[in-house]
Amino acid sequence: MSKPIDFAALPKDFAWGTATSAYQIEGAVAEDGRAPSIWDTFSHTPGKIAGDDHGDVACDHYHRWREDIALMKQLGTNAYRLSLAWPRIVPGGEGPVNAKGLDFYDQLIDGLLEAGIEPSVTLYHWDLPQTLQDRGGWPERDTANHFADYATVVAERLGDRVTQWATLNEPLCSAWIGHLEGRMAPGFTDLTAAVRASYHLLLGHGLATRAIRAAAPDARIGIVNNLSTVQAATDRPEDLAAAHRMDGHTNRWWLDPVHGRGFPADMRDVYGIELPEQAGDLETMAAPLDWLGLNYYMPAVVADDPTGPAPYAREVRRLGVPRTGMDWEIDASGIETLLLRLTHEYGARKLYVTENGSAFPDVVRPDGSVDDPGRVEYLEDHLAACASAARKGAPLAGYYAWSLLDNFEWAYGYDKRFGLVHVDYKTQRRTIKGSGHRYADIVRRHRQGRGLRGNAA
Ligand code: FCB
Repeated sequence: MSKPIDFAALPKDFAWGTATSAYQIEGAVAEDGRAPSIWDTFSHTPGKIAGDDHGDVACDHYHRWREDIALMKQLGTNAYRLSLAWPRIVPGGEGPVNAKGLDFYDQLIDGLLEAGIEPSVTLYHWDLPQTLQDRGGWPERDTANHFADYATVVAERLGDRVTQWATLNEPLCSAWIGHLEGRMAPGFTDLTAAVRASYHLLLGHGLATRAIRAAAPDARIGIVNNLSTVQAATDRPEDLAAAHRMDGHTNRWWLDPVHGRGFPADMRDVYGIELPEQAGDLETMAAPLDWLGLNYYMPAVVADDPTGPAPYAREVRRLGVPRTGMDWEIDASGIETLLLRLTHEYGARKLYVTENGSAFPDVVRPDGSVDDPGRVEYLEDHLAACASAARKGAPLAGYYAWSLLDNFEWAYGYDKRFGLVHVDYKTQRRTIKGSGHRYADIVRRHRQGRGLRGNAA
């Protein structure tokens, strides 16, 4: 039985949204001038993705976006977080702009606004143009400059209608998972490349923030991080130190520079890699922001791992705790802890939960309906924890459920389903799941100022 959601703690104009990203849903990878990204390359490399899946067709959102907006309307949501595909807009990574790529997003934005849904646009959700990777990718400084130029192009075209912008989605995944663990594109296992990538991602974030502001003065700009609460597996001093390192690796490395604190000194020592610093970079990274985005999925429990990769802390699997179909531990209190941490430790003035959700093995009933009680419970418990954070003072302005649709879940392929809406990949038929109906109900109850007596309708 889920905890009731304290709806009264959430502002009246709360953004109730869903989220997706370009490569995970669009498909149409070779259409209208789009060039390959590092995810096209990675997903077509045998053995990298479960079932050798790829995003060539995905949810075919490129052709079905009108139907997908209609689904958002059915859910009653008033906000939608999407990402733009850089290789659709500037196929070469720099240089000529592809008019058809921009036209696609232009129409999509108009469609959303006509439906009364406010777009929140993320510039980079991991799909670096392959041409830039061929020239070194994020470990190279030029990539950050090209990112800012691309930001100018889109802000000039869409900035008259889009006010809500995010620069990067989860730079942690691009840098650490993509360049150190090798489980995501571009698939490297090289600490130097990873640290340099992390630096240039944050530099690119700062440069793009300035570029958007110059082109679209009304823009409200943020960055989206996936943060975790970190606990030591035991209270041995070695494990406590490992937990502190993991907190640095996952949270502080990404938050401190954008808050004008520079890179955490302890983590610079842990990595032992010289940063490609130039005068003025730290100021650029700390360009003032209007909001912070939190993606939250699970807590981390860690133990010392002196012989493993940086940060020399390994995740420990706690027994006897609930888990999602990703095998990720479920702990709704973590989202509250992190929202309050961003409020108190980083002085956030506006927060959004830009992603939160769960994968479970859904069952499609003979009548076509999809019942997903695990996802309903996850959703309700996390929303209750969000409202509790708001009640305690976190300036939470919105929540975007991950995800609108089942989609290409990166290295896990299509096997893991996060959608509030089920997608039958053979027919591209969409069906709102039980969790989608429940979300619609929650949104309605908040809007009507009801709902203090529990979550069920
Ligand atoms: C996040 C990603 C998102 C999705 C969810 C499950 O790390 O930003 O694209 O894959 O995880």
